[in-house]
Amino acid sequence: MRKIRTYNQIASRGLDRFSRDSYEVSSEISQPDAILLRSHKLSIDEIPQSVNAIARAGAGVNNIPIDECTREGVVVFNTPGANANAVKELVLAGLLLSSRGIAEGMQYVKGLADTAPEQLNKEVEKGKKAYSGVELTGKVLGVVGLGAIGANVANMALELGMEVIGFDPAISVEAAWRLSSDVQRAENLASLLSRCDYVTLHVPAIDATRGMINSEALAGAKAGLKLLNFARGEIVDTDALVVALENGQVGRYVSDFPSQLLMANDKVMQLPHLGASTVEAEENCAVMGANQLIDFLENGNIKNS
Ligand code: MLT
Repeated sequence: MRKIRTYNQIASRGLDRFSRDSYEVSSEISQPDAILLRSHKLSIDEIPQSVNAIARAGAGVNNIPIDECTREGVVVFNTPGANANAVKELVLAGLLLSSRGIAEGMQYVKGLADTAPEQLNKEVEKGKKAYSGVELTGKVLGVVGLGAIGANVANMALELGMEVIGFDPAISVEAAWRLSSDVQRAENLASLLSRCDYVTLHVPAIDATRGMINSEALAGAKAGLKLLNFARGEIVDTDALVVALENGQVGRYVSDFPSQLLMANDKVMQLPHLGASTVEAEENCAVMGANQLIDFLENGNIKNS
């Protein structure tokens, strides 16, 4: 019987179908053939000799010791596209949060709990004036990273009537994943940043991208840039960002990767890594990862799609 060890945070929904006579999928297995995990940070010491493959139920693989796995001949999969819709929808929320006074307005209304009923309308009018925003339609969005998530975000933004510019440090716009031909192409990050009202990040955290949004990049951005990070925290140099928020170069920062340095900053909205946290995405990722592992164990196939 083939055995796949799971870790906490793997959605068990959808995995029942894999537990048949020939497979066991469970967190209780000590000598697995493969590992399926989501956020657990796996150390090389936790990988028994019996393991031939590991699947990450998500796009990023930075919680897996890739170099050591490669050395030991352990195949590593991710699940590209399986959570792209969930992230895309949260990016939409991020665009709106950074443009309309949604969070501030809700906070303001909560503060009116003790207001006398006859005063309420007056206070509502004050809030209406204070938290007026701007629309997305007609604004320019830069999408950095044109894999499944970035391409989904870019296509969605076109539907909102935004002008969209794409850039990927590794792949050309032409080679990007199901990307609309209406997405314009930037030659490099600097040219994208100089033209955009909003920039959303969708690159993995690798040597080429860690700290890519640094003081030099931010200095060349359009003043008041609204920056969204649903990729990885390390892509943005937080110290440089603090300065850019202070001097107005960055007007808003919405991030799925909280930093202590930004907690008290009124221009920053931080979420607890919710991008892929939906019922649907969790199941899609778990099922895709399990399928990849089984196809590899059964047939020796290495398919990352
Ligand atoms: C990803 O890499 O796709 C996300 O980090 C997935 C997750 O939230 O687990």
